[in-house]
Amino acid sequence: MAPSLPPDTSKTTKLERYNSYLRRVNTTKLLAASSTLLFRATLLISLLLLFLFTLSSPTQPHHHRQLLSSTLTPSWEKQVRQSSTPRRPSGLSVLVTGAGGFVGSHCSLALKRRGDGVLGLDNFNSYYAPSLKRSRQSLLLKHSIFIVDGDINDAELLSHLFSLVPFTHVLHLAAQAGVRYALRNPLSYVRSNVAGFVTLLEAAKAADPQPAIVWASSSSVYGLNSDNPFSEHHRTDRPASLYAATKKAGEEIAHTYNHIHGLSLTALRFFTVYGPWGRPDMAYFSFTKDILSGRAISVYVTQDDKEVARDFTYIDDVVKGCLGAIDTAEKSTGSGGVKRKSAQLRVYNLGNTSPVSVKDMVVILEKLLGVKAKKNIVKLPRNGDVPYTHANVSLAERDFGYRPSTDLQTGLRKFVKWYVGYYGIKTRVNKETATVGEGEVVESS
Ligand SMILES: NC(=O)c1ccc[n+]([C@@H]2O[C@H](COP(=O)([O-])OP(=O)(O)OC[C@H]3O[C@@H](n4cnc5c(N)ncnc54)[C@H](O)[C@@H]3O)[C@@H](O)[C@H]2O)c1
Ligand SMILES: *[C@@H]1O[C@H](CO)[C@@H](O)[C@H](O)[C@H]1NC(C)=O
Repeated sequence: MAPSLPPDTSKTTKLERYNSYLRRVNTTKLLAASSTLLFRATLLISLLLLFLFTLSSPTQPHHHRQLLSSTLTPSWEKQVRQSSTPRRPSGLSVLVTGAGGFVGSHCSLALKRRGDGVLGLDNFNSYYAPSLKRSRQSLLLKHSIFIVDGDINDAELLSHLFSLVPFTHVLHLAAQAGVRYALRNPLSYVRSNVAGFVTLLEAAKAADPQPAIVWASSSSVYGLNSDNPFSEHHRTDRPASLYAATKKAGEEIAHTYNHIHGLSLTALRFFTVYGPWGRPDMAYFSFTKDILSGRAISVYVTQDDKEVARDFTYIDDVVKGCLGAIDTAEKSTGSGGVKRKSAQLRVYNLGNTSPVSVKDMVVILEKLLGVKAKKNIVKLPRNGDVPYTHANVSLAERDFGYRPSTDLQTGLRKFVKWYVGYYGIKTRVNKETATVGEGEVVESS
């Protein structure tokens, strides 16, 4: 309020100053009055919103704060118990994390089919179309498998589940997958693959009985390894992506929980899994979509123009590997968080043992779809993808009879059949006579 102007003694200016002073006083009063009104209105609206939120929270399973209100309902607990109760004598009771995902949904169905109890857990995040995850959920529900809507970082939820059900096994498949997405959202990998895994292991360690844990690592841990085929004893300390680094971190974290707390832990290094209900972010899937809609696809070659190849592994083979690992997993040895004696710690490759170049994969797709692809040949960017993967699966074969039996042609045929059915695509292709470049495909509206 201290005027820095030189004092003005003229009458008019004094009057003007007085008037402007009055105006200011009035505005201040008005402001004060309106802000009181605003404050009261805000308070009222906040209370109203809070009230409405409390009413509606049980139907918003994504929000963590509502855990107790939604999980304490008897019907929710009944669903959890029913879903996880085995239907065969000495059947297992398995918590499948990532059950709304590609591999998780297939494994859940396979376990249920043979009479084991299965409870799913998934946060249905939008890394790719949640509608596809919800469709898998509906399929599982038809087979009496309930998926809890929740995050593996929710310690309270996990300990609640372990207190409700004496799980014999956890099949831990929830993760932030994909290599290139790490450039856009690096912390999602840390949250799900590192922090989430630790939260899960903490809950499992404290559970009574402690479950045995089988979980998904990745072939990407081989990183810059150039010995072929990739064997479990090869170096895995040079990851080429943040995704690979978080999976490798998981393997080290697993060692710790095995060593200190006696948890039985088995890591499965999957090699490019594909098939019906697959992941839309993977090349075989997005290529199918783009080829059908006439969009050009980017086919990678290495920096020195060599072919990029993958050890594509069909989903049914991977499911057999997961079940084999579960069936040979020994019990955890700890109780009350304390290890009683040494427990099992294993790592296995689950691949197909016959790499196919991406170029040849596209040729197979072209034949199956009856459409010639528009291709851009692009150098593999140095952002995480490795040029070549090839699994040595002799350890998994020795320990649980793992023997992949589906070649890429056969597996992709099953994928394409599912794809056109799921997305309602009408093909005017005569499958028997179609040759590359012929046939017409229209997407139904
Ligand atoms: N498909 C492959 O080729 C492949 C290869 C190597 C490793 N893996 C690993 O296998 C596992 C399964 O892969 P997928 O292909 O089925 O992937 P996916 O993305 O289809 O399935 C993962 C599921 O986990 C859920 N999820 C993610 N973060 C979660 C969290 N914090 N809490 C609860 N749920 C969460 C997702 O919503 C998704 O449904 C992953 O661990 C993946 O890293 C897959
Ligand atoms: C495959 O792995 C096994 C066990 O680790 C090893 O004995 C064998 O030599 C490997 N085979 C090849 C071809 O590298």
